[in-house]
Amino acid sequence: MTTSIPSDGLWFGKDLSNSPPIPEEAIERAVALMRSGRLHRYGEQGSGYPDPSLLEQEYAAYVGSKYCVAVSSCGAAMFLALKALGVKPGDKVLTSSFTLAPVPGAIAHACAQPVLVETTADYTTDLQDLERKAASSGAKVFLLSHMRGHITDLAAVREICDRHGVAVVEDCAHTMGARWDGRHTGTWGRIGCYSSQTYKHINSGEGGLLVTDDDDIAAQVILMSGCYMMYEQHILRPAPEVFERWRYVTPNFSMRMSNLAAALLRPQLALLPERDECWNRIYADLARELAKAPGVSLPTRDPREAFVPSSIQFSLDLPPAQIERFVEECALRGLYIKWFGLPKPVAFTSNFKHWHYLDEQAPMPQSMAVLSQLLDLRTPLSLTPEDCQLIGRIVQVAAGIAQVQTS
Ligand SMILES: Cc1ncc(COP(=O)(O)O)c(C=O)c1O
Repeated sequence: MTTSIPSDGLWFGKDLSNSPPIPEEAIERAVALMRSGRLHRYGEQGSGYPDPSLLEQEYAAYVGSKYCVAVSSCGAAMFLALKALGVKPGDKVLTSSFTLAPVPGAIAHACAQPVLVETTADYTTDLQDLERKAASSGAKVFLLSHMRGHITDLAAVREICDRHGVAVVEDCAHTMGARWDGRHTGTWGRIGCYSSQTYKHINSGEGGLLVTDDDDIAAQVILMSGCYMMYEQHILRPAPEVFERWRYVTPNFSMRMSNLAAALLRPQLALLPERDECWNRIYADLARELAKAPGVSLPTRDPREAFVPSSIQFSLDLPPAQIERFVEECALRGLYIKWFGLPKPVAFTSNFKHWHYLDEQAPMPQSMAVLSQLLDLRTPLSLTPEDCQLIGRIVQVAAGIAQVQTS
């Protein structure tokens, strides 16, 4: 590890983990709720609809789904999705090899076994590998992670999965507001799952949203998330006879969203379009600068993909020791870049090689090659064009040093 102080005078030093403040309107509503003491979404004598029900109605209208259920996290939403689709202990579930730990975690929570699908050089699903594994694995569900906002051709995914009788669940933790071919992510499969954890597009600290058009799935998720028998406090809910089918056979997993979380989120929905525009501006500025660095390449983005990049990823065509040097040189200049090829999991970043609880997987040479060169930078809305230029300059210098080091 190098300890020298860079002589080039380049220093970034801003905190890339910051999030925008909660809107005043949301704070006022949260304070009113706290004064009332009414923080649980259900009540035996509730009057009017609680904040999570209103949020569900607004979010479903935003993405164009029939139902939305507000839950405690995206991890909870994915778990409930698998349960509602009938995943049983020991079942296999297809999932993306490029994702974060809560995704295989949701599968493990359902006592099922992840079967990883290879990732392309553009950080999306390898459709040929999906086709192979949908045909051969016996899995009935594909939990597709739109990891870091990189969206696979969803029409092709649907076509393959439909042909093999595989239901698609979309992990949209990084794609709230994003669309494929004009249609929101999360509405292409049977179920879409979103996150409102602090580092996502809207922030309630913890929180999740699940969308579906399916009456039986919606009824099960409402019951499983923990409504007890107060499902009539959901504005968006299936007919009473659908609940009759499920109310005696569905466990309560206590994964509700609180009134407080929903109150924080509702005013943020209206901010999504301006946030999306700002993130896209930052992405374009950074992509232009990063592409100037030696050995750096950015993924090709399909014109059908309307993405909402709250982070940026790039590949650096160097062996691991030199990538390590690159990361160190960036850190010396106050720029903390994450690397998916790390030998050990660090902070939020891990890869499938670190998840030793998975059953043995088929060799994943392509995913390993991609992840071993994949670098990751969060892009808070506060980044200015000057910040983007400085980041680009640091990446160019650090990549140059890393290249020269051992060549
Ligand atoms: C790709 C991905 N999917 C799902 C999740 C789970 O979201 P939550 O923290 O709301 O459970 C995360 C969390 O960071 C994530 O990064």
